[in-house]
Amino acid sequence: MNKQILLKSRPTGMPVVENFTITEVPIPLLKEGELLVKAKYISVDPYMRGRMNEEESYIPPFEIGKPISGGVIAEVTESNHNYFNKGDIVMGNMLWQEQQAVNAERISSLNKDSEQLSYYLGILGMPGLTAYFGLLDIGKPKKGETVVISGAAGAVGMVVGQIARIKGCRVIGIAGSSAKTTYLRDNLQFDEAINYHSANLEKAISKACPNGVDIYFDNVGGEISDTVISHINKSARIIICGQISLYNETKIPVGPRIQSILLKKSALMQGFLVNDYADKFEKGNQDLSNWIKDGKLLYEQTIINGFEKLPEAFIGLFQGKNIGKYLVEVF
Ligand SMILES: NC(=O)c1ccc[n+]([C@@H]2O[C@H](COP(=O)([O-])OP(=O)(O)OC[C@H]3O[C@@H](n4cnc5c(N)ncnc54)[C@H](OP(=O)(O)O)[C@@H]3O)[C@@H](O)[C@H]2O)c1
Repeated sequence: MNKQILLKSRPTGMPVVENFTITEVPIPLLKEGELLVKAKYISVDPYMRGRMNEEESYIPPFEIGKPISGGVIAEVTESNHNYFNKGDIVMGNMLWQEQQAVNAERISSLNKDSEQLSYYLGILGMPGLTAYFGLLDIGKPKKGETVVISGAAGAVGMVVGQIARIKGCRVIGIAGSSAKTTYLRDNLQFDEAINYHSANLEKAISKACPNGVDIYFDNVGGEISDTVISHINKSARIIICGQISLYNETKIPVGPRIQSILLKKSALMQGFLVNDYADKFEKGNQDLSNWIKDGKLLYEQTIINGFEKLPEAFIGLFQGKNIGKYLVEVF
């Protein structure tokens, strides 16, 4: 019994569980330099939606009839490599498959005694580094500035807000439920949090940002971003991290032409991919770990159990089902 999840068909609009199939494959035999690993935590991430479309992007599309792949933390159950032993914990880009053979050169080793192993897929992994480099390198936050974050209660957003607070900024988060906005205010000490489903966003932003917006960290795009951008200050920085509100659109809606706002405000708008900073990941992880140790950076995860739940968890990202990093734990 070795389950695997394949992309059965390409989603049109919002993905549905019928776009995926669960199948069974034999437990693979190892070649030289390979490890047999058993998945422990599997990450679901918004960028995977883009890979389900036919089009070329910065990463090739998933193929129909082939397994999905992404960030996985796994335990080594058999090793054909000198460096790794049975019982080691490893992380890397792997298949959505319970047990698989991986090339030892393509994975990294984790400290198996780490209390929060799953953090390596969240705050101490790709999402945490995305928050760190996007905010600090592009946003360049200064004490007293106003920072607005959309998708603020997610894996990336909640780290951005807390780093902005560490840097002495006033922080406003936008998220999709009152449970999330309460969490941002009460647990993470955001100065304000706005529920975009219930608030009049225009009025709420005017109220929460009486001195305008100096930095906008954009995780969602669409109308939320149009509204925030209409409030930017002179020399504002707009960090384009993600556009999740558009990932399921079959025809991208046309919004306001914002170039004249950027022009009049001498503002910067810049997109980025976390891997642009690959050579600086060590420094980013060091700072993130120190802030966690010092109690300055808290983190939340939404973990559901069961390999078969992966498609449901993935779809849940687009329904706002997660607070913090969304993961599936595999037994
Ligand atoms: N540039 C990079 O290298 C990079 C790296 C990692 C992630 N990203 C991007 O960063 C963003 C956040 O990623 P993440 O991993 O931290 O995901 P996440 O925020 O943990 O999860 C996705 C969240 O997006 C929100 N959302 C879903 N549909 C929405 C809609 N139509 N309008 C507004 N909000 C919506 C939901 O929260 P609500 O309940 O608040 O709606 C959901 O919980 C994504 O756009 C992702 O693609 C970029």
